[in-house]
Amino acid sequence: MISFLDLKAVNNKYRHEMELAFSKVLDSGWFIMGEELKSFEEEFGAYCGTKHCIGTANGLDSLTLILRAWKEQGYLSDGDEVIVPANTYIASVLSIIENNLTPVLVEPEILTYNLDASLLEKHLSNKTKAILVVHLYGLMANMKDLCSFAKRNGLKVVEDCAQSHGASSFGTKAGAWGDAAGFSFFPSKNLGALGDGGAVTTNDEDLAETICYLRNYGSKEKYVNRYAGVNSRLDEIHAALLRVKLKYLDEDIEIRRNLAAIYNRDISNDGIVKPYEGGGDEHVWHLYVLRVADRDRFTHWLMKHGVATMIHYPIPPHKQKAMADFNKLELTITEKIHNEVVSLPLHTALTASEIRYVAEVVNSYCE
Ligand SMILES: Cc1ncc(COP(=O)(O)O)c(C=O)c1O
Repeated sequence: MISFLDLKAVNNKYRHEMELAFSKVLDSGWFIMGEELKSFEEEFGAYCGTKHCIGTANGLDSLTLILRAWKEQGYLSDGDEVIVPANTYIASVLSIIENNLTPVLVEPEILTYNLDASLLEKHLSNKTKAILVVHLYGLMANMKDLCSFAKRNGLKVVEDCAQSHGASSFGTKAGAWGDAAGFSFFPSKNLGALGDGGAVTTNDEDLAETICYLRNYGSKEKYVNRYAGVNSRLDEIHAALLRVKLKYLDEDIEIRRNLAAIYNRDISNDGIVKPYEGGGDEHVWHLYVLRVADRDRFTHWLMKHGVATMIHYPIPPHKQKAMADFNKLELTITEKIHNEVVSLPLHTALTASEIRYVAEVVNSYCE
């Protein structure tokens, strides 16, 4: 059986260095907001090409805290609108709702599955204050057009980089294009911890400072609280483990690119739509996502031949019970994507021959 994701095998590569990192933290006796976090923030900020990086407890909190900080700074108020792709993972939308802001769901491009910059104009209102861009499945969104639209209209840009660590377009990395970006280090991500973790990257010093307060009960000085903040910190143990994995991130991305290149080359089946590859370093292949009309039949075929798959994602945010006010929206491209997508196995512990086998099984499927 080719598993969809084998995190034990993926992390085995770093086992020795992780054990050393774990022992170092254990021996230090210091577990929250210490030297490991400080070093990870410096190293990850440098990797992304931003002046500041602030560790948080998870990706959702990273996005939520960015918007919250802009509320504290008076840039955003309750009811302001934030444009967001309709086909994203629901966490992107939840960060907006959590802040009493209004998500404006915009259709993606059917080619890239990323936000369609040509549709922004018609969704603009006098309440629009920001665009939350998602680099879905690891492919950079069209940042040039999205950022220039935002600039023309005085909007902030938040990047949701939960799936795009290390991706770049025109020489600028994911996380360095917008006013701020939220990363997730959920275990399955391209840079994954052994538990939850997240970070904000930004070049905006004031924003970084406000988020530093907010993630720690609104305080930078013990028992002195400037804001009614939250507890959303990246633990020392996770920072230490992530420092190990960060050293190998580019190498791991290269492995993903090589495996995805085999799928791109070998899969040829008229009933299957392959993913857009992007140019240069735009894609880091967090997920390899196909589209197929009769998805259930296709996934059963793969399963019968020993290949596990997943769906990212089966139900779009606007059709979720949690978003009852949006249930009546008709978003045909988003709904088509959600009805047809299938993710194939792609991770750093898979071999080229396993990928070739999956491609063979995909090719043997007849509609
Ligand atoms: C696009 C996107 N945004 C945000 C998140 C939230 O990240 P986390 O699970 O760390 O809260 C995820 C996680 O799966 C995601 O895929």
